Amino acid sequence: MIRFTFVKPDGAEVAVEAEAGTSVMQAALDNGVDGITAECNGSAACATCHAFFDPEIVDQLADMSEHEDDMLDFAAVERRPESRLSCQVPVCDVLAERKVTLPDAQ
Ligand code: FES
Repeated sequence: MIRFTFVKPDGAEVAVEAEAGTSVMQAALDNGVDGITAECNGSAACATCHAFFDPEIVDQLADMSEHEDDMLDFAAVERRPESRLSCQVPVCDVLAERKVTLPDAQ
């Protein structure tokens, strides 16, 4: 299990543990973390699982597909360099003890 922390839009932090390979979106849903809508259930088709990852590690996460890159342009909150669709990011060791911040809107 890999432990990391979600920072919700109100600033509250929720530490979670998830199996490697589980999507970050699924880890949020499994742990009752609100702030991720995930309307398309992980198909990279809705951009309602937008999240900001720690800039120090964002380049070490699973590669971003062209499709994910395109979809991030439709996120409700403007994307940043550390933006990802959390359904496309598997939990992995580099996330350990890091923070994933959820935007104000999805
Ligand atoms: S859940 Fe829809 S894009 Fe991630």
